[in-house]
Amino acid sequence: MDYGFDTLQVHAGARPDPATGARQVPIYQTTAYVFRDADHAAALFNLQEVGYIYSRLTNPTVAALQERVATLEGGAGAVCCSSGHAAQIMALFPLMGPGLNVVVSTRLYGGSITQFSQTIKRFGWSAKFVDFDDLDAIAAAIDDNTRAVFCESIANPGGYITDLDAVAAVADKAGLPLIVDNTSATPYLCRPIEHGATLVVHSMTKFLTGNGTVTGGVVVDSGRFDWSASDKFPSLSAPEPAYHGLKFHETFGPLAFTFHGIAIGLRDLGMTLNPQAAHYTLMGIETLSLRMARHVENAEKVASWLEAHPAVEAVTYAGLKSSPWHDRVARICPKGAGGLFTVALKGGYDACMKLVDSLNLFSHVANLGDTRSLIIHSASTTHRQLTPEQQTAAGAAPNVVRISIGIEDAKDIIADLEQALAKASA
Ligand SMILES: Cc1ncc(COP(=O)(O)O)c(C=O)c1O
Repeated sequence: MDYGFDTLQVHAGARPDPATGARQVPIYQTTAYVFRDADHAAALFNLQEVGYIYSRLTNPTVAALQERVATLEGGAGAVCCSSGHAAQIMALFPLMGPGLNVVVSTRLYGGSITQFSQTIKRFGWSAKFVDFDDLDAIAAAIDDNTRAVFCESIANPGGYITDLDAVAAVADKAGLPLIVDNTSATPYLCRPIEHGATLVVHSMTKFLTGNGTVTGGVVVDSGRFDWSASDKFPSLSAPEPAYHGLKFHETFGPLAFTFHGIAIGLRDLGMTLNPQAAHYTLMGIETLSLRMARHVENAEKVASWLEAHPAVEAVTYAGLKSSPWHDRVARICPKGAGGLFTVALKGGYDACMKLVDSLNLFSHVANLGDTRSLIIHSASTTHRQLTPEQQTAAGAAPNVVRISIGIEDAKDIIADLEQALAKASA
């Protein structure tokens, strides 16, 4: 059956509980699963039979969520993880090794910039940062030791839209997988696999759960990359020593990355999503399209209003005609440019601080993608560890605030901004 997005966001991955008939996906709050007999246990551990062994690896509630997100993204499989940052490590883990690198966009969430520029060095991995509007620069940065290309579809914080088709073509030509962080867009607004992405990662902490209750992540595999086309990805194409010499690509075909993620990634890194968090995220996804449509509708109204305000220097929302990335909306995220953007104030840093402190309806938090409208001054918080050059390149200069527009009444969001801007510019 070829169901539409709204149907799939409610039903994909979930069926009435076979034991009780429970209609909603139960929280399977269990660590382990009783094997039928010794042969069954051996077959499960040998990956000859698919089933539940231990909740660090697999859990029925988490499995329902994996299937739902994979379906909405148009992927072959998915592995849930304990956070968005965990998902990024889990996506890179089977591809990377000491001395290898990933080419990444300068326009990323600040925490990702730190993860890639600093922390992954401890594994012997490295990242090369490039302006992803410069396709020649991406191609030039790729060398023999590059194993992946990484960007965000709609980038946090500025709402910059990546030309995924063009970037995918560069990665493809080099025989490399493109990994797209689709956190800010969600599969309702953008489906990166349709634009050539190999893997899609999410912080489910944001719009997918949608109400600020959960920390979670997921890696979705398109199932389309030929891991055996070169000798660059031995964990997937050659005998894997961490699983008694199993050849994942040969054995599991389009599900190679997913099986590797569970059998080795979760087994050995242990960045597992707990079943209660999976349940909350399943509940959130049921209303994803309804929420995202309202986030976009409100963001368009608020961004237009802000752009015309005398205290405002610039608004980065790609849904505005003035945005240099406006042309990409129809092609990359046809249902809208999301609910996230930055606002530069003429009063600079001090006005930003005053604005944040003067808002009432907005919550001042280090989060995005909540039903509530949220604000933060990125340069002094989420992007604080970055150099001034990195902050500006990431769209988080000291004179900007990041806004995540909620699903409240647009007139109330605007009224709150109006009174706070008056104080900030006084
Ligand atoms: C675009 C993006 N990717 C990844 C992350 C990391 O996600 P998490 O906080 O769930 O680890 C965030 C967090 O803000 C984000 O905004």
